Amino acid sequence: MNKLEQLYEGKAKKVFATEDPNLVIVDYKDDATAGDGAKKGTIRGKGVVNNKLSNNLMKMLAEQGVPTHFVEELSDRETLVKKVQIVPLEVIVRNVAAGSFSKRYGVAEGTVFKAPTLEFSYKNDDLHDPLINHYHALALELATQEEIDTISAYAFKVNEILSKYLLQFNIRLIDFKLEFGRLADGTIVLADEISPDTCRFWDATTGAHLDKDLFRRDLGGEEEAYQEVMKRLLG
Ligand code: TMP
Ligand code: ASP
Repeated sequence: MNKLEQLYEGKAKKVFATEDPNLVIVDYKDDATAGDGAKKGTIRGKGVVNNKLSNNLMKMLAEQGVPTHFVEELSDRETLVKKVQIVPLEVIVRNVAAGSFSKRYGVAEGTVFKAPTLEFSYKNDDLHDPLINHYHALALELATQEEIDTISAYAFKVNEILSKYLLQFNIRLIDFKLEFGRLADGTIVLADEISPDTCRFWDATTGAHLDKDLFRRDLGGEEEAYQEVMKRLLG
């Protein structure tokens, strides 16, 4: 499968067309942004880690009944995926208070919830990805009720599978963001990526951050943390 013209460049990935109209190639970059693009930098080796980790996790999720866009890893940074129309919702599941939840609701980071939470942000850079509820998503015609039900069920299922899986590697899944897409026939599949860019991973023993918060919060050690997560999960 050959890389044809570039279709899109995001903050962390580029997307290229292929000869097959139903398949695209994703190319992961080391570029990192935070604070709605206000902070820009590089996390050396991030593209390789996120490509390999995301592919590994999506394969595992697909085996357990969550359909994904993943097709085949082509190289360290490149993966063949099904072409989707992205549903413009950031789907966030939380097990423990952190980040914007802690700030918005005045809850100490690390507070464990009795049950996981689900929230949506409207994926729109001009509006800075505002938090919305599912009635707003319907009013804005971002998705149908049926799609929102499917997406919500998949998001909680991903949380159950992933939380359990990561604990084997002494990692606590604090929260994460998913994106879903529609195939040509309308089927909803998990898309985008699952990586330390899009999840909060805390070491289950020490509570150390093993994710992009090290970069977002200028704590340092992000390169090593990304490598550490890859080493734990992929050996
Ligand atoms: P938040 O606490 O900042 O809302 O982040 C919740 C989760 O979503 C966290 O695991 C990081 C992830 N996330 C993204 O993947 N992309 C984003 O743009 C933001 C703001 C958060
Ligand atoms: N989407 C955020 C930004 O571009 C990055 C993040 O916080 O993960 O600033």
